Amino acid sequence: MPELIKVASIDQLRPGQMLYVDVEGLPVALANVGGTVYAFGDSCRHAGGPLSSGALRDDVVTCPWHGWAFNVRTGKSVIPPVGLRIPTYQVQIVGDDVYVAIEWEA
Ligand code: FES
Repeated sequence: MPELIKVASIDQLRPGQMLYVDVEGLPVALANVGGTVYAFGDSCRHAGGPLSSGALRDDVVTCPWHGWAFNVRTGKSVIPPVGLRIPTYQVQIVGDDVYVAIEWEA
């Protein structure tokens, strides 16, 4: 069962912005797309670039290192090589707090 972990306050993340959070050692990026917050793995599938330092355009994040791009809702690559995916995590907003659901491996 996933563990809900508070990772940020909603006022740290305005629409169109991203935020890096360290979730107990797991690198996670948050993105606010039109008022909805999405969470995904911060490490790019190409060479580990920090996606939260890249560009967010609508629901697509572009890696700052070599330009690979992923949909923040689905985690799927939107440019070749297609079929790659970054992990995504469920987000819950409770009051002003942002929680991410993490399923830890046993
Ligand atoms: S590390 Fe992200 S595109 Fe190369």
